Amino acid sequence: MKVLVIGSGGREHALVWKLLQSPRVDKVYCAPGNAGISEIAECIDIKTDDVEALLDFVKYNWIDLTVVGPEVPLTAGVVDAFIKEERRIFGPDKKGARLEGSKVFAKDFMRKYGIPTAEYKTFTSYLRAEEYVRLKGVPIVIKADGLAAGKGVIVAETFDEAREALKMIMKDRAFGDAGRKVLIEKCLQGEEASFMILTDSKTVVPLATSQDHKRIFDGDKGPNTGGMGAYSPAPVVTEGLEKDIMKKIVAPMMKGLKKERIDYRGVIYVGVMVCDGKPYVLEFNVRFGDPEAQPILARLDSDFFDLLKATAEGRLKEVKVSWRDEAAVCVVISSKGYPGPYEKGKTIKGLASFKNDKDVVVFHAGTSIHKGKIVTAGGRVLGVTALGKDIETAKDNAYAAIEKIHFDGMHYRKDIADKAIKKN
Ligand code: AMP
Ligand code: GLY
Repeated sequence: MKVLVIGSGGREHALVWKLLQSPRVDKVYCAPGNAGISEIAECIDIKTDDVEALLDFVKYNWIDLTVVGPEVPLTAGVVDAFIKEERRIFGPDKKGARLEGSKVFAKDFMRKYGIPTAEYKTFTSYLRAEEYVRLKGVPIVIKADGLAAGKGVIVAETFDEAREALKMIMKDRAFGDAGRKVLIEKCLQGEEASFMILTDSKTVVPLATSQDHKRIFDGDKGPNTGGMGAYSPAPVVTEGLEKDIMKKIVAPMMKGLKKERIDYRGVIYVGVMVCDGKPYVLEFNVRFGDPEAQPILARLDSDFFDLLKATAEGRLKEVKVSWRDEAAVCVVISSKGYPGPYEKGKTIKGLASFKNDKDVVVFHAGTSIHKGKIVTAGGRVLGVTALGKDIETAKDNAYAAIEKIHFDGMHYRKDIADKAIKKN
């Protein structure tokens, strides 16, 4: 079978890597991919949201399954276009992708179907929004409605910060039309976890739990990023809490999808805040989390191709999913300056040492090849992912691996997974 993966980050490298382990997969293509992906798959130069070119590629190359990595092609309707032409694709259609593409839609959906989430109100007028912040007080959370590459959420600790955020989104239009509406939300205190499920709208298969590290610096300090590291499993999601999430969040969510006539076939990522032992939804994403996909796929024992194909075909109930007992930790290495403007073009050394390591895999995110050398080309550069008999061992393995890697200005957090280790 031939598979096309759409995307170019650490998540897509992990997807390609895991798909290639299936005996049924003969060849994987990736659009557009990165330097690491090009070592194991064929990268093709098509942009992730160029729906027409992607469809043409799939037709002329007899691709059996397309797997969509990031949210942008999903909200652009890549799945709708593929389904119209009877091409097999993993991911939700445009309607389903609104769960991530519009935060207002997602919150209204949660309210309508009784899914626990922070109290909120929607605004299109700057003055009304400012008035509401004054009324509610700080801390408070301000969110742009549309996609903003992970930068559209501001947890404001002071009134000035809240006003700045509203100004940036609504007046300066820092995220363009994504800022036509804003959500103002109660600030929840607690611990976050990432809970992903696979669904074909009839069957729900929960994936292994994980936890991300959103802030750039140790101790959860500094600005939010796409994610600086993740581990799986996440001890904060106890068996009892998982049952609660399935009952209070996933069950009404599935009911809501049915009522709204959304035939969802893909992954739903539920960003959960655990407050006093109870789960609340922070956000829905309509794709695998990044970096969470990296440790999760390192732990997956089942045939990933079978799982994704069955989901796309509406036969998920026929497939079993199993996990390795080991834990996995992924530490992201980023470029100097990230999440602000960052350096590029730095030569990365030490990558060859992991080629035959069975416990460590270095997933590439922002990398490219320049004059035969692998160089940095993005904010998040690598996801060093290691297995171990428990989280502590996996963490030690990941950090030992990082010692061998070098590029100028590299940055990584030193405390990935510490929260989980303290809990055990
Ligand atoms: P989102 O993209 O909605 O997940 O928001 C990004 C990050 O902002 C989350 O991972 C949380 O760390 C934080 N956040 C979002 N909503 C809230 C909230 N209501 N209360 C506290 N923190 C939040
Ligand atoms: N790591 C968070 C996300 O993928 O949205």
